[in-house]
Parts: sequence; structure tokens; C-alpha cells
Amino acid sequence: MKVIKIAAEMQQIALKHVKAGDEIGLVPTMGALHDGHISLIDKSGKNDDITIVSIFVNPTQFGPNEDYLKYPRPIDKDLKICKKHHVDYVFLPSVAEMFSDTHKTFVEVSQMQDILCGAFRKGHFRGVATVVAKLFNISRADRAYFGLKDFQQLKIIEKMAKDLNFTTKIVACPTIREKSALALSSRNSYLNAAQKVNAGLISQILKEAKENFKTKPLKTVLGIALKKLKSIPESKIDYAEIVDFYDLSPASSKTKKAAFLAAVWVGKTRLIDNMAMNK
Ligand code: PAF
Repeated sequence: MKVIKIAAEMQQIALKHVKAGDEIGLVPTMGALHDGHISLIDKSGKNDDITIVSIFVNPTQFGPNEDYLKYPRPIDKDLKICKKHHVDYVFLPSVAEMFSDTHKTFVEVSQMQDILCGAFRKGHFRGVATVVAKLFNISRADRAYFGLKDFQQLKIIEKMAKDLNFTTKIVACPTIREKSALALSSRNSYLNAAQKVNAGLISQILKEAKENFKTKPLKTVLGIALKKLKSIPESKIDYAEIVDFYDLSPASSKTKKAAFLAAVWVGKTRLIDNMAMNK
């Protein structure tokens, strides 16, 4: 396994593999790797000749009052995990390497970037779309792996890849959960033991909503879920919405395939989760 810190070098290596006929898989991460990331790495290991894992805590996707400085960076542990899971290259750039002082170009996926999480985290998805576009160009990936846990991020990246004619295929991978059903996230490390148990209730409530969606009106489904989310100890809801599965537009009584997306604070930790729902 090689650790590459320079974008041009990573790109040259990737191009050599492309010329040799190798198929490249990219797993973009911000590090603090957990079983969710490992499932993406292993999937690339099965599908691709070469697996590149990028580890970059991207400052452009954090707001001024967010946890950029406090975000966990256990790099030695992350590198050990990558090695154990047969990663070929870890792309580990500095902030200056990815976003020099003269950087001026950003990618925006209009409308989709401003709703749900985007309404509470201004500029977040602009930062995500920009760094992911750069990573696609640097890695020359045939496939890039993203978790369904970040559902809005996944939909935005799919749209960006389509609109900008990227040849990288987006592979959506299932959310990996703790025993309590809490979706794995690097931010779970901020929770204490009691908060972790309470946070597990979020997905249980969404699961119940999924059942209700089959038979009950939209308003009722949402009402029941909101009441329960509010009753989670130390919780504060940023949003809880049922949207069209494909384009994130508001669901209606005619929507057959929907997704319930929620962002809920438990104490000082903001958690997101979602559930696909069918009529
Ligand atoms: O999901 C993440 O970890 C990040 O948003 C990503 C896709 C690596 C971009 O920085």
C-alpha cells in the first residue's frame, strides 16, 4: 500500500493504471474509518483491480461554527485499517494541496444543495460536490463508493456526475448500523453511552414510519414520527421530512417510492439518518 500526498502524483499513478487496463475504485472519506467505510473498501476490493481510499477532512464542507477542528483524525489507525483491507493507494493530501490560496472554482448542484441538510449547513454540499469532483479527476475512478447513510449527499453526487458527464459510476452501499440500530458515523464518537442508546431510537422510529407509509396518509406518518423523535432524551430536530426517493422533492400522496430523512441533535451531536419507503 502506498500513501500519496500530492494530487498530480496520484493522478499520474491512476493514469498508468488506466493505460494498463486496470479498473479503479475510489472510496472518498474524511478518515476516522469505521465498519461503514470498511464495507465500501471491501466492495471496491471485490469489484475493482485497484482501490484508492482518499482521506481528507475537507474544510470547504464545514460551516464556521461546525466541528472542523474537533473532527477526529486517527490517521495511524486509519492507515492500518486500509492496509488490512488490501487498499492499493491512500490519497492523503493537505488542505493546501487540495485548496490552494488561489483556488476559485466550486461546483454547485442547485436546489438539491439548499434543502434538508443544506438549509441548516449553508455551503456544505457545495464543498462536498467540489471536493468529490476533484477526487474523481485525480483518481480517474471507474467506480466511486458512497454510503446510503448520507442519502442527500449521495443524490447530489449522482446528479453532479450525470450533469457534468463524469464517467465514474456511483455505487450506493447500504448503511451499516450498531446493535442499537444507530447508523455508524465518525461523529458517533462524540456521544456518551446513554446518548448512543437514545440515538439508536432515531432509526427505530424511521423503521416504524416505513411500515406506516404503506397504509397511512403522509401527514399521519410524519406526525407520529415527529412526536417520537421529539421524545428522545436531549433531542432537538433540525428537520424530519418525507421526500421523493429519486430527486428529493417533497413527497405527495401519489409518491410510490419515498425516503424519510431526518437530522436530529442528541446533546451536542448532530446525527442524520434515513429510510427508503415504498407504498
Ligand atoms: O461523506 C464523507 O465522508 C464526505 O462528505 C466526502 C464524500 C468524503 C467528501 O468530503
